Amino acid sequence: MAALESFRQLVEMLAQRSEVASVARQVDPRHELTAVLRHMQKGPNRPLIFNDVRGTDLPVVTNVFGFRRTIAESLGLAEGDLLRTMVSLETKTLGVERVEDAPVQEVVKTGDDVDVTRDLPQIVYAEHDGGAYITAGVLIAPHPVTGAYNASWNRCQLAASDKLRVRMMPPQHLGRYHAEAEALGRNLPCAIVIGAPPGLMFSAASKVPFEADELEVAGAWQGKPLRVVRCKTIPVDVPADAEIVIEGEVIAGVREDEGPFGEFTDGYVPVMKNHVFRVKAITRRRDAMYHAILAGGTEDLNLVGVPIQAEIYKKVTNFVPRIRDIATPGYVFGCVISIDKQNDDQARNAMLAALGGYSWTKVVVVVDKDVDPFDAADVLWAIQTRCTPETGVYVVPGIPSYTREDVREVHRGKVGIDATAPISMKDLFERRRFPGEAEIRLEDYINANTSN
Ligand SMILES: Cc1cc2nc3c(=O)[nH]c(=O)nc-3n(C[C@H](O)[C@H](O)[C@H](O)COP(=O)(O)O)c2cc1C
Repeated sequence: MAALESFRQLVEMLAQRSEVASVARQVDPRHELTAVLRHMQKGPNRPLIFNDVRGTDLPVVTNVFGFRRTIAESLGLAEGDLLRTMVSLETKTLGVERVEDAPVQEVVKTGDDVDVTRDLPQIVYAEHDGGAYITAGVLIAPHPVTGAYNASWNRCQLAASDKLRVRMMPPQHLGRYHAEAEALGRNLPCAIVIGAPPGLMFSAASKVPFEADELEVAGAWQGKPLRVVRCKTIPVDVPADAEIVIEGEVIAGVREDEGPFGEFTDGYVPVMKNHVFRVKAITRRRDAMYHAILAGGTEDLNLVGVPIQAEIYKKVTNFVPRIRDIATPGYVFGCVISIDKQNDDQARNAMLAALGGYSWTKVVVVVDKDVDPFDAADVLWAIQTRCTPETGVYVVPGIPSYTREDVREVHRGKVGIDATAPISMKDLFERRRFPGEAEIRLEDYINANTSN
């Protein structure tokens, strides 16, 4: 299967497989949309399209990456090959293809015609959020000196008709780009892409080296040059096949109160001084779809988690070759490494490599190949039945992990848990198997009309 080249292709693929759930009735973008999405994510976790969101003509599409396998598919990969392939592609680039006519510029609004508080869905997610937010925007900016493009996801508060407030958490590259422009006394031209091609969504979520051009990295990930078009009002190239682009610049020397915002840790980031984006234009497809992501929901945690898993995979395989997979079940400040252990030291080496492998990672559990690393209950089972706390739990004091300024001190110290069975006792820890279990379909045995 080839990688997908646009957000639209992704939605079409999911719709063809009847995975997309469609909401016809009108929903309020203030809280109601999120409440419905929460039910979906806690239940069947399917992609959702809201066709009638009060105050906008744009359909709102969300939860396209509720499953990790969809990330793999959109990159043209089997899920089992995802991490290995992402690591092998890490330093690859493919030059962009420039076009003049772009679907994303079918509708162009500039200057006084633009009002982001009217022209975009005004989605308010959590109870105490300080207003409506764009949560699925990929911010693209060329470096003020080298011109290399950075791409990253940043939440944007819809503050006024031509103003957004943007969160750039240190040490994010976009903040460094802006600091370098600011030092030169300049604003940073920047575009916000909504409904971006999958390859770009992943390069934006990944820690691509600072010097790399992320439009070219996105091309390598989709195995085909990214089609780009020049913005109408700023010297920035954007994906021609995106759904919506907001053109503008991040202002030098200005910070404003942004927040509070219910973010991916499931708590609120308090009001903080953050960057200000002046809007110059909105361009879009005539029938544009608006992508929205619930911070900390399944889609967000997959987008954040897979690049972390790949980064850890890269580090761990330097020491331990037989890694089956790496998962981030439950949350992304920890990971579970599934290994085909050949000797007991491999579990400890894997643990240590992972703890140092990604700055945010503060809890690492290593499990045997017969434990499902994606199933938090199975991982807890392994800890309870196979870990020897006295010798199998390693605490590394002092090391910081999550770097959000105000909670930094809580995230200090790291812990590794060896939940693998000792090789010498392998036979004692063999898991039971039940012949025939894999082939049985419960509905062939249970009469749907009876309760007994
Ligand atoms: C949906 C989504 C929203 C995100 N929002 C933010 C944000 O508001 N601020 C931020 O600093 N990072 C945010 N991130 C994380 C960054 O995009 C991510 O760390 C990225 O690797 C940073 O890019 P960089 O390597 O160019 O610094 C978000 C990630 C996702 C997937």
